Amino acid sequence: MDQPHPKHKLSQDARLSRRRLLGLAGGTATGLVALSVVGCGDDDEAKPTPTAGPDTPGPSSPTPAATGSPAAGDAGWRQPAVISSANGVLETTLVMKGESIPWGNGTRWAITVNGTTPGPTLRIRPGDRLRIKLDNQTAHSTNIHTHGLRVSPEGNADNPFIEIKGGEAFDYEIDVPDDHPSGLFWYHPHLHHHVAEQLFAGMFGAIIVEDEIDGLAEVAGATQRLVMLHDTRNTTTEAGMLAATVMETRDGREGDLVLVNGLATPDIAATSGKLERWRLLNASSSRFYRLKLDGHALNLIASDGGRLAAPQPVDELVLVPGERAEVLVQPVKAGSYTLRSLPISRGPMGASAELALATMTVAGGDASPAALPAKLATIRDPNTMNVASTRNVTMEMQMGGGPPRFVINGREFDPSRVDINVTLGTIEDWVVRNVGPMDHPFHLHVWPFQVMEQSRPGPLPRGWKDTVNVPAGGFVRVRLPFEQIGGKTVFHCHILDHEDLGMMATIEATGG
Ligand code: C2O
Ligand code: CU
Ligand code: CU
Repeated sequence: MDQPHPKHKLSQDARLSRRRLLGLAGGTATGLVALSVVGCGDDDEAKPTPTAGPDTPGPSSPTPAATGSPAAGDAGWRQPAVISSANGVLETTLVMKGESIPWGNGTRWAITVNGTTPGPTLRIRPGDRLRIKLDNQTAHSTNIHTHGLRVSPEGNADNPFIEIKGGEAFDYEIDVPDDHPSGLFWYHPHLHHHVAEQLFAGMFGAIIVEDEIDGLAEVAGATQRLVMLHDTRNTTTEAGMLAATVMETRDGREGDLVLVNGLATPDIAATSGKLERWRLLNASSSRFYRLKLDGHALNLIASDGGRLAAPQPVDELVLVPGERAEVLVQPVKAGSYTLRSLPISRGPMGASAELALATMTVAGGDASPAALPAKLATIRDPNTMNVASTRNVTMEMQMGGGPPRFVINGREFDPSRVDINVTLGTIEDWVVRNVGPMDHPFHLHVWPFQVMEQSRPGPLPRGWKDTVNVPAGGFVRVRLPFEQIGGKTVFHCHILDHEDLGMMATIEATGG
């Protein structure tokens, strides 16, 4: 971290000419981005969003603002601006601000990143260095976490213990290893006690690590979309947004607005015979989604950051908070198909209502399904790994007099403690148990795992994961290689109210 990798060095000249180029393109009004390029020009995600992207070199398309949904039921499909790395570096400022954004015929209050919610998508490559200035223009402390990235949790990298006070800025510097897997990751705030409310208010965005899958012939022509699911509250005030009752935090707050990329039931315009590639993210603080697309299978090609060995068709796909998935959809017949979330239960609160999230409108004549790639990735076989030890991790909601306590192995979060010491270079199995009546999605920073066994019947989640649901009264056994990256970080329940209430613990990897 303190020894800059030579390939990350960028000459001052390159920097200046880059800036000049951007200046000539007329997009440096806000002066936020020095080195970033908006857009790759070859997919939907790359369409520059003039209001969100400070720099939009080249001709800008008339894409409307990412968050300015003119009306509920709005038909437009929009994605946040894209900030891509160039020459091994992504340098940008993310401005976090509480403000009113257009909504319906009025406004609603949100925490935006560079003026939009979701904030800009960061598009990077393995080996890149991220230099992110987080400019906290809110009145409250915060920080930022790069969920799923296998990067250092120390110093000014992906360090969840940093606190950036309201009105202050902080310079993050995060080195992405050369062999980092490609896939969908995301950023969101991570200051203990405030994570659920700040994410709920809209502060998040996607991180895409570019992909070997892009090169596959079957995928190259697909329409790429980022489908970010998030729920929030339709309120015009900060107080209205941040308020939460004891019951809401106990159950995990859910909002009355369920949005896709900040839009209410947007329209996905697809073409029969043309493959659709969707990167899905559950960016909700607590809400689970049980996704189903009318009339179409979802061909799963990745879970969290991890590629699958081959596409796996599923009718339904559950995403718990923090989870990602990537799917291929094969439209073959003109019509209108709803992407919905079916009722799903995550505790004694009972099943959620069925929701329409988006509509896929397919144009064109009858077509045969676009071919799927036969083979995607070679996944390291966990069964041949040498497991050094097995640990028990128990997530628990302790009821008694007064408000419930949310604990891991009997203790509430204490950042000054180290709860688990692991030896760098070893592989462990963790049996993660949930002894309570409510589901708890288990999430570990930095080190991805594979699921070896679970109490719930049905197939095991495949591929490398960083978030997995541990059902009420059940367990999950995960296999965790603690490799390459050392340091102290956290694991927690990704129902973020539970994390804020204490269901988080620390882990430190050293030696080896
Ligand atoms: Cu997505 Cu520790 O979080
Ligand atoms: Cu994380
Ligand atoms: Cu929980």
